[in-house]
Amino acid sequence: MRTKVTKAIFPVAGLGTRFLPATKSVPKEIMTLVDRPLVQYAIDEARAAGIKEFIFVTSRGKGALEDYFDNAPQLEQELRRKGKTELLELLKSTDMDSGEIAYMRQHRPLGLGHAVWCARRLIGNEPFAVILPDDIIAAEKPCLAQMVEAFAETQGNIVAAMEVPPEKASSYGILDIKEDMGRIVSTKGMVEKPALGEAPSNLAVIGRYILTPKVLQKLNKKRTGAGGEIQLTDAIADARDSGEEVYGFRFEGQRFDCGSKSGYLQATVAFALARDDLRDDLWTFLNDLVHAEKAAQ
Ligand code: G1P
Repeated sequence: MRTKVTKAIFPVAGLGTRFLPATKSVPKEIMTLVDRPLVQYAIDEARAAGIKEFIFVTSRGKGALEDYFDNAPQLEQELRRKGKTELLELLKSTDMDSGEIAYMRQHRPLGLGHAVWCARRLIGNEPFAVILPDDIIAAEKPCLAQMVEAFAETQGNIVAAMEVPPEKASSYGILDIKEDMGRIVSTKGMVEKPALGEAPSNLAVIGRYILTPKVLQKLNKKRTGAGGEIQLTDAIADARDSGEEVYGFRFEGQRFDCGSKSGYLQATVAFALARDDLRDDLWTFLNDLVHAEKAAQ
């Protein structure tokens, strides 16, 4: 097995029902934080971690996503004609070389594990990353790059992890901890969306993974789990049961759950406040808002 991680899977087939009616026609992953779609953050993070092949698992109605990473000759021509070189430069961040990006269709919504399995032929016998674009992580060193470094040392499966309040554990995959070594945690199991009070710990899986081909083999079984879906968590746990290591990795950075409205709004504010061109105006606005709210109480 090769040990370098150069391929990443981006499961983007979900219906995005939490953002209806917007997601009736706009793929959730194209929704923007300030002026960049969620998926752009995911691609940038993957690139910064050394990923060379980007595999999207899509579904019906995700055409806008493919267009986003395509050339836009008319738009470029128009910008060139108007001398808008800065905007042309900006567009370059969406350029993908031919053959660098692949789209697989997940024909039926059978779960995250199934979505990853759909990309199996493009992965072959090498370790690969999985990025869930809903989970946005603001970090000095991008989260996946941190994990690639950890993988170079451990060579075992690695899942991003963070502590969540016990009452939230049933929304996540939860790690059963064998040994807590600080940044890295070895595991003796993983449970997808445990019932309230049954979580083995409060260390939750966040949407970044570096996995071995063994996990794809386990997904071949197409076992259904929580919610009647084929779960990635179960396949990783199965790989562990057959002797592979699975580590939790406490990443450095702030995670935003952009799959929820509240997380998405928080990310929007945080990312806008981090921008030189927006900070002052937004800060003044937020301050005024808070003062007005306090005065009204
Ligand atoms: C997925 C995974 C879950 C993980 C979560 C992180 O769940 O199945 O294990 O904890 O992403 O965001 P979802 O949020 O798609 O229900």
